[in-house]
Amino acid sequence: MVVANRLPVDEVTTAGGRSWRRSPGGLVTALHPVLAAQHGTWVGWPGNAAGPDDPTPQPFELDGMRLRPVNLSTDEVERYYEGFSNSSLWPLYHDAIETPAYRRSWWESYRRVNQRFAEATADQAAEGGTVWVQDYQLQLVPAMLRALRPDLKIGFFLHIPFPPVELFMQLPRRAEILRGLLGADLVGFQRPLAAQNFLRLTRHLLGMRPRGAGVEVDGRIVHAAAFPISIDVAEIEGLAASPLVRARAEQIRAELGEPKTVILGVDRLDYTKGIEQRFKAYRELLAEDRLSVPETVMVQVATPSRERVEHYQVLRVKVEREVGRINGDYGRVGVPAVHYLHQSYSRSELVALYCAADVMMVTPLRDGMNLVAKEYVAARVDLGGALVLSEFAGAAGELRQAFLCNPHDLQSVKDSLLRAVHVDQSEAARRMRAMRRHLRAHDVRHWANSFLSALGVPTTVLPNPPEG
Ligand code: ADP
Ligand code: G6P
Repeated sequence: MVVANRLPVDEVTTAGGRSWRRSPGGLVTALHPVLAAQHGTWVGWPGNAAGPDDPTPQPFELDGMRLRPVNLSTDEVERYYEGFSNSSLWPLYHDAIETPAYRRSWWESYRRVNQRFAEATADQAAEGGTVWVQDYQLQLVPAMLRALRPDLKIGFFLHIPFPPVELFMQLPRRAEILRGLLGADLVGFQRPLAAQNFLRLTRHLLGMRPRGAGVEVDGRIVHAAAFPISIDVAEIEGLAASPLVRARAEQIRAELGEPKTVILGVDRLDYTKGIEQRFKAYRELLAEDRLSVPETVMVQVATPSRERVEHYQVLRVKVEREVGRINGDYGRVGVPAVHYLHQSYSRSELVALYCAADVMMVTPLRDGMNLVAKEYVAARVDLGGALVLSEFAGAAGELRQAFLCNPHDLQSVKDSLLRAVHVDQSEAARRMRAMRRHLRAHDVRHWANSFLSALGVPTTVLPNPPEG
């Protein structure tokens, strides 16, 4: 069983009635193929606010999985989801790039909703089953679930960074969060440093003694380690090789006016992603005549995200102002310098964009992993394209042949972007080949298998077929 704040689909109500749409973010991208292959159960929120009279939603089937919806009220969406999860924890765990806010009522709601998820899971799980709890919204669930169902094997995976001791210590209710996580048998992180931060905290905050790569809690050993998440490489490669997607990629370049260089960004519209820094680097290079329009165009796709949270509203205004400024200064009639798309796209359209892009810019100020970077590499079955990648994305620990940059240093972003634009074809292919080799051996099945076998669960998530 997987327990995550969101189901892999959101319920949407339109004039035509109710329907389901793929929900946003990397967690869903990674876990969907894994759980579908296992025919597992997914416990999560369907993404809307439930009214007080709404009935308890019934489980249903999707892509071979069983989905068990958990309702949130309007008040809980505000306090648990937008409040504690996305205005306290999200910014704090991402180096406090934006100032985290704390309210006591948010914590109460966080605790109550975590209890509801634990109860819904306890209710569904088979005797002696395995439950895999996901991400920062549900850090209390492991201990709550263990109290309800001591027979279960419980894993927890954090998709975002885990902060150093000094930052975590800011968090009100910090000890409760830590004890919540320690309810798991195995706590997984994206990077080794995050696992070390966690183990250090158990000593610093709770006075626990390290036991190998774990700590002893009530006579149990809780293990902590890094398991870098990945993508369904075969899915992306399949799309990239399909004639429809290839034709669409060519059409995109034609629609952009057949520029020499297409620069692409694809992100949730989030302040951790370094979208402003990317635009600034591009604008300065245009101003210095080191890049020019229409030979170069930039496409930025920014999925709407957490739109009622203030930090996100402020970011949207700043990003849209910057797009307007660049287009005002460097665009021409019918030839904008930046194509900005505040929309969600299908997987095949995204892969067509990846295939159409000469340079992919992934410049987060801090990111647990960043699956967009991995998707771009997986899509380049032709060995074309160049990846500019922030050192502060977890993916930089693996994709070493990318053009790495420090997004906090504008000069570094500009230098990496220029190097990627001007790289010769054979060097670009050499870099892409090395990154693709790594990715094929470390796809999402490899991630799930290594986590589950460390948890002591026999694994059946099948590997990709070898490259032909
Ligand atoms: P995060 O989980 O923080 O959003 P990731 O880069 O790890 O960041 O994952 C983002 C996921 O969302 C990727 O699988 C990407 O393909 C998908 N995605 C990003 N932008 C869009 C978009 N505009 N439309 C559809 N999917 C998107
Ligand atoms: C990141 C988080 C996920 C989250 C996703 C989308 O990937 O790690 O837990 O689901 O962003 O964010 P949202 O708030 O829309 O669920």
